[in-house]
Amino acid sequence: MKIVILNGSPRPGGNTEIMCNAFAEAAGKKHEVVRVDVGRMKISGCLACMYCRTHDHECVQKDDMVKVWEALKGADMVVFASPIYWFDVTAQLKCTIDRLYAGGFSWNKTAMLLDSGADNVYDAAKAMYKGMTSYLKWEDMGVVCVPNMRDKGSMKDAPALAEVVKLAESL
Ligand SMILES: Cc1cc2nc3c(=O)[nH]c(=O)nc-3n(C[C@H](O)[C@H](O)[C@H](O)COP(=O)(O)O)c2cc1C
Repeated sequence: MKIVILNGSPRPGGNTEIMCNAFAEAAGKKHEVVRVDVGRMKISGCLACMYCRTHDHECVQKDDMVKVWEALKGADMVVFASPIYWFDVTAQLKCTIDRLYAGGFSWNKTAMLLDSGADNVYDAAKAMYKGMTSYLKWEDMGVVCVPNMRDKGSMKDAPALAEVVKLAESL
């Protein structure tokens, strides 16, 4: 299957990118995996103008979301990956998720990969993800949270990376 990872972290070589790459390497043995660094793209929030509803799913805003929709073409699974920023996913990933509304959804499987400086900070991100999966009838393949990632690169030595690989290998 085709798996698209939406990486909400803006930091190149950071913890979330390391986590995404571990997932991609393991899942890549059996599947086509594409990582899209939405955290570093110029993607504005949805304007709720409903242009897409009368223009065959086309969005009125011509920003980097065009590249995301291109990558999502034919996707069977989407992985939402993000560092926790103020107890939730990054604003960049949230803007991307809001904008998915225009393009429609070809995939029916999803997963979520989260990391954070502290622990017990995942309630909002998980609630948003669970709400989406249940509303859109996506099959949740798993959620992995990696706490205590205080420095850039902490992820390299995180025991929880094994959970990320296990999830990828289970697909
Ligand atoms: C703006 C900002 C807000 C953050 N907010 C939180 C937070 O609410 N809770 C937490 O545990 N960590 C928080 N962190 C820490 C990051 O989630 C953590 O260091 C993460 O591993 C960074 O991932 P990255 O290397 O991909 O940037 C925050 C970091 C930044 C830059």
